[in-house]
Amino acid sequence: MSFLQAIQPDKVPAHVAVIMDGNGRWAQARNLARAQGHLEGVKTVRRITEAACRIGVRYLTLYAFSTENWGRPQEEISSLMGLLVSCLQNEMPLFMQNGIRLRVIGNTGDFSPEVQQAMRQALDQTAANNRMDLVLALSYSSRWEITEAMKDLALRVKNGSLSPEAIDAGKINESLKTAFMPDPDLLIRTSGEHRISNFLLWQIAYSELFFSPVLWPDFTEEMFYEAIADFQGRERRFGRIADTTLNSEKA
Ligand code: FPP
Repeated sequence: MSFLQAIQPDKVPAHVAVIMDGNGRWAQARNLARAQGHLEGVKTVRRITEAACRIGVRYLTLYAFSTENWGRPQEEISSLMGLLVSCLQNEMPLFMQNGIRLRVIGNTGDFSPEVQQAMRQALDQTAANNRMDLVLALSYSSRWEITEAMKDLALRVKNGSLSPEAIDAGKINESLKTAFMPDPDLLIRTSGEHRISNFLLWQIAYSELFFSPVLWPDFTEEMFYEAIADFQGRERRFGRIADTTLNSEKA
């Protein structure tokens, strides 16, 4: 039986977040430029976006460019920017046919006017789609996002519209760039690294984690479905105890 067939439709995670890792090593193993790895990685973005949409994932968040990625060689940054712009344009039929709304979280002001314009256009064009939100984390890092949220709350306290006592987890959630969506149910990282790398640190408090040894360009739909099926087999307790334990204690 394939993993797709094993998926229980009523238990599909609403929000899946992905750290797409391993493009560089994929290219290196083939004596290719790192840019070739990213190019191949875009094909996986397409595959996994379609797969997520197919099974009914409501939010798919992809870590596409971190704040720290600005420290890579200029040549690699330029090729990633070029890929981003062409991807936003070339994948528009995929977004429209599948009812995909594009969203961006991150410090978008860091990007060149050309990249910002391509983003704005793609965001506007897909704004009415409502089957799945494809959320690209671009120039994103969790510590940056949390810092921005803290500044926002501090300003509201300073101008008197918020009392310090009223600050709670809900207020912090509302101040994050991810305020429009629920926390990830499942976080997937490819390439065999077991790290979170400054991604959605606040939001993954109770997310299930799935680490795949496969490099992102080699990551298939079936591997994605495997992660979903694995997630569905887990017991999520959110810090509480199992229902069965409660029931047997009551009995
Ligand atoms: C990690 O691989 C991947 C990235 C830094 C960028 C991810 C980008 C893409 C998949 C393509 C562009 C995306 C979109 C949405 C258009 P790495 O370079 O860190 O790999 P390594 O760890 O093997 O060096």
